[in-house]
Amino acid sequence: MSALSRAARIPAAAAASNSQLALEAVGLKKVYRSGDAALEVLTGLSVQVFKGEMVAIVGESGTGKSTLLQLLSGLDRPSDGDVYFGQRCLGALDDDELAEFRNREIGFVWQSHYLLPEFTALENVMMPLLVGGRKEREAASLAGAALADVGLAARAAHRAGELSGGEQQRVGLARALVNRPSVLMADEPTGNLDEKTAGAVFALLQDLHRRHGLTSILVTHNLPFARRCSRILRLHDGALEPVTAASGHDLGT
Ligand SMILES: Nc1ncnc2c1ncn2[C@@H]1O[C@H](COP(=O)(O)OP(=O)(O)O)[C@@H](O)[C@H]1O
Ligand SMILES: [Mg+2]
Repeated sequence: MSALSRAARIPAAAAASNSQLALEAVGLKKVYRSGDAALEVLTGLSVQVFKGEMVAIVGESGTGKSTLLQLLSGLDRPSDGDVYFGQRCLGALDDDELAEFRNREIGFVWQSHYLLPEFTALENVMMPLLVGGRKEREAASLAGAALADVGLAARAAHRAGELSGGEQQRVGLARALVNRPSVLMADEPTGNLDEKTAGAVFALLQDLHRRHGLTSILVTHNLPFARRCSRILRLHDGALEPVTAASGHDLGT
């Protein structure tokens, strides 16, 4: 492990305050194979994220940021290494257990909202609750509260496909958080939005992070947004390195 990636594991502030670990990745490797060709995207990446942190991950396109979030959230499995949430090791879970863990513990927001356009905002937010086995009436009530939480109570009955880009991303946030996860992961959540709407969605994300006591990991190309996070890590050559104001790193585009 390089000195840089070792340094990326423990932020000084967190180590000093003895903060509690929320999740940890150890020796993550990811190799994509197609035919005879193998592409090693992550080369043994380790990182610790502490409870309440909002971590920004930056890096050039194609460096593996989305791959990393998918591994950290259990959406995909690493070629080697593992991810731990407290005592729970994702590699030890079978596919059903992993899906159940994800549904309960992790909220995920993508660059594209992936809402079902023909369904209402409320129905879209109800989905993870119904998947998790809640009764329809309870799901509707919780989804309504989640929409109110993102300022969209008045849009609950609108079809998702008829909402603006910013509203759709808010619905995506409500859907990600309706199950009260402890961790929020967002992959370029403002990447498809104009500057003003992006600013409003990022501010909402920060607000939800604080109000719900979340641990958040956010991939972003937006440098001002990254700077408003607790810590910035840069993915480069398959590993993470810390970015500090003094390091002079280019944050990638
Ligand atoms: N499912 C896949 N199969 C093969 N190659 C992939 C797959 N997903 C991503 N890649 C490749 O892995 C690299 C990293 O991709 P990605 O994680 O999407 O990067 P980023 O999010 O930083 O732009 C890219 O070269 C991409 O083409
Ligand atoms: Mg990506």
